[in-house]
Amino acid sequence: MVIFEEVTKIYPGNVKAVDSLCLKVKRGELVVLIGPSGCGKTTTLKMVNRLIEPSSGKIFLAGTDTDELDAVELRRRIGYVIQNIGLFPHKTVASNIAVVPRLKKWSPKDVDKRVDELLGMVGMEPKLYRNRFPNELSGGQQQRIGVLRALAAEPEVMLMDEPFGALDPITRDQLQDELKRLQQRLHKTIIFVTHDMDEALKIADKIVIMKDGLILQAASPEEILQQPANDFVRHFIGEDRLIRRPEQVLVSEVMLKKPVKIEYYKGLRQGLVRMREESVDSLLIVDNDDIFLGVVDVRDIQANLNNKRKTLQDIMHERPTVNENDNVKAVVKLMVGNGIRFVPAVDEKGHLKGIVTRSCVVNFILDYM
Ligand SMILES: Nc1ncnc2c1ncn2[C@@H]1O[C@H](COP(=O)(O)OP(=O)(O)OP(=O)(O)O)[C@@H](O)[C@H]1O
Ligand SMILES: [Mg+2]
Repeated sequence: MVIFEEVTKIYPGNVKAVDSLCLKVKRGELVVLIGPSGCGKTTTLKMVNRLIEPSSGKIFLAGTDTDELDAVELRRRIGYVIQNIGLFPHKTVASNIAVVPRLKKWSPKDVDKRVDELLGMVGMEPKLYRNRFPNELSGGQQQRIGVLRALAAEPEVMLMDEPFGALDPITRDQLQDELKRLQQRLHKTIIFVTHDMDEALKIADKIVIMKDGLILQAASPEEILQQPANDFVRHFIGEDRLIRRPEQVLVSEVMLKKPVKIEYYKGLRQGLVRMREESVDSLLIVDNDDIFLGVVDVRDIQANLNNKRKTLQDIMHERPTVNENDNVKAVVKLMVGNGIRFVPAVDEKGHLKGIVTRSCVVNFILDYM
């Protein structure tokens, strides 16, 4: 729907605000441009409706080179919403929304119908709001009217430059939801600028991360979180938002660090007491240096309780282990492959470091889904 081909903008003083930018925005797609202040977001946006002319390169709107279109005509086909709204203060809500439909010479009846329909879409009762003036609305309501005004003449494309930047977090959140709903219902093609990563992750079909007029990465939110293109992107997203792939998570991060263990030479009754104290039905058997030796479970003990000479090492059995620095996938494989409920985790020398139980694995899966 909108195609940027090698678009460059150099401002007087040789400021290269946008540098050979190539980008395809599909019909019905919501693309978010994000990046640090001064990276060229607003410049990129304004070149689409030719509020700024590119120094070189081409921008196509629905297959037509925008350079070949009349700039005024072009702007009527494109809705534009900015941070400080710019509603006309002396016009009512209805007249503000109706600006472009009137310019397009819609009949008064069609205009009225459209205004009421739009107000209804964002939950503002037309009777109550159509005749108010902008200063009789809250900031969030004004911004809604700004969005409705841009939508009014059914533009093919919407450009939105930090439209919710000045709003409180709750209103902002509501408007993001509303925008996403409107976009999905009306299949609008939207290019949206923000510097708020949460906003981008929430609403975008595709996120375009810019720096110094260049695109560093353009991909779905999912992909960006999973595979940031470089350290700048990684840092910009914030480490805590990044999704680590399961193969990057270590056993030591999911295991329980205090497994219930007991020395091999202890008697069976001692084993039983330990199980009761800790409310477990198996014990990990270790030597004096904490090297893992094997496993004993409650049924093994009960079956041998009459034999007073036996110690735990006589009745323990082997159990595969994982290294604490292995990735979690190794444990899952081991558990599923052998039908076992838990796997001891050891270090290089065989010291017992922890235990991975099924519930550890379930929690891990829930965390990383
Ligand atoms: N009219 C202008 N004349 C000269 N330089 C300009 C002009 N407008 C913008 N610039 C420069 O171009 C670069 C990109 O500006 P732009 O407004 O596109 O950034 P932005 O990514 O929208 O930043 P912000 O997040 O602060 O809104 C900046 O270095 C800016 O100083
Ligand atoms: Mg800007």
